[in-house]
Amino acid sequence: MTNITAIIGGQWGDEGKGKIVDYLSRDVQLVARFQGGANAGHTVYKDNKKIVLHQIPSGILTPGCLCVLGMGMVIDPVDLIEEIEMINSHGLVTDNVIKIALNSHIVTPIHKKIDLRKEEATNKAIGTTCRGIGPAYVDKFNRCGLRAVDLKNLDEVRVKNDKRLAGAIENEEILQIDKESIVNDFEIFYNACEQIIPFISDIFSLVHDYNLNNKKILIEGAQGTLLDVNHGTYPFVTSSSPSTGGVSAGLGLPLTKVQRIVGIFKAYTTRVGKGPFPTELKDDTGEKLMSLGNEYGATTGRQRRCGWFDAVAARYSVLLNGFNEITLTKLDILDDFDTINVCIAYSYKGKEITNFSEVLSDLNNVKPIYKSFNGWKAKTTGIEKYDDLPHHTKFYIDFISDYLKAPIKIISTGPGRDELIIN
Ligand code: GDP
Ligand code: IMO
Ligand code: MG
Repeated sequence: MTNITAIIGGQWGDEGKGKIVDYLSRDVQLVARFQGGANAGHTVYKDNKKIVLHQIPSGILTPGCLCVLGMGMVIDPVDLIEEIEMINSHGLVTDNVIKIALNSHIVTPIHKKIDLRKEEATNKAIGTTCRGIGPAYVDKFNRCGLRAVDLKNLDEVRVKNDKRLAGAIENEEILQIDKESIVNDFEIFYNACEQIIPFISDIFSLVHDYNLNNKKILIEGAQGTLLDVNHGTYPFVTSSSPSTGGVSAGLGLPLTKVQRIVGIFKAYTTRVGKGPFPTELKDDTGEKLMSLGNEYGATTGRQRRCGWFDAVAARYSVLLNGFNEITLTKLDILDDFDTINVCIAYSYKGKEITNFSEVLSDLNNVKPIYKSFNGWKAKTTGIEKYDDLPHHTKFYIDFISDYLKAPIKIISTGPGRDELIIN
């Protein structure tokens, strides 16, 4: 294995990144997140028990592996403490392994309330996770945010937050009636802040030291490329850069250091929240994908929208991220379909389009053009070698790999840690 590997979501999130990071962390000494926050929900299993991680990297399951929360993240201290307690209850050790970057930003109860209020004003709804992510990044870029390093002086933080709260009420970002509950939430918040202070440190030198000493590093993306604030289906995106480009900005690690960039794709497509989704199936087939795939959000429990694999969007994702390999997950969910479709072009204003970027801002008006594949109607879970897969399955996988011009090196055939085919 190369020294630095990045795991990046290729679609709209929930591709199974957590499982793959957990699998690959066995051989690494440090796993780092570089963007997002508690909007993520990464599912892993320990002793057949399901664990959903929101902010802590999935490397936490590997004893001795350092878990870094990078400077590009927006961190919710209250949620983090709950997550640590949850992880400890599974018998996992968190002492001295969680490191928070000095320059990471902090999500406060004000941010969460603004997120909620904005979502409730239905004409502006994005379908966010209501974790305060967007408002925390707004404050960061408006240069009035709260950083982890600031928590070392909580008295000053209190003054700053009181001022921000008064401003938020004055600007009608939140309502006067919200004030009392926010003031109460702040007490819980300060308590959590005190608990996370020992984790805050200079992760820049840590990550570079590890790299200089040839230790192995895994970078864990959250969300997915099509939710990228620069390159995704704006405004129905998250407020960070989940694609490869975000790694350098969010971890202080130059892209030239990242040798292996793995794009994680589901064998079909899902999306949670609002926004365009060309291959969405609002019929029985979509229902079938949803129920077989158990497609409910790991963070909010919302039903995920489902559809066929969109190779046009996926090709864009490959180009944008520079994936040198692909992992295809949830292949087993397609085991029982007579026909499986892949979108190979869009029909748009009488033209056939294969460049996703050309229609990115008008995706509601494209119609997918499908290539149909014979279903394999056989169980793929438990198969350990590519050669042992049914003929039609291999044909499907090879087609996607050829279309995307990237090798599919890992195939996931079940939620379990080892339900994988390494190609
Ligand atoms: P993430 O956000 O990218 O880490 O993905 P999520 O955890 O939100 O969603 C992926 C879901 O699919 C989780 O419930 C996983 O346990 C499950 N999963 C991952 N890979 C597979 C697979 O190959 N087959 C099946 N059936 N489930 C999988
Ligand atoms: P993981 O890491 C899927 C979606 C939300 C919403 C949009 C903006 O588990 O793949 P936000 O709360 O970020 O402001 O919401 O982004 N979203 C995700 N969808 N997986 C995620 O994370 C997501 N994180 C945010 O549903 O549409
Ligand atoms: Mg998820």
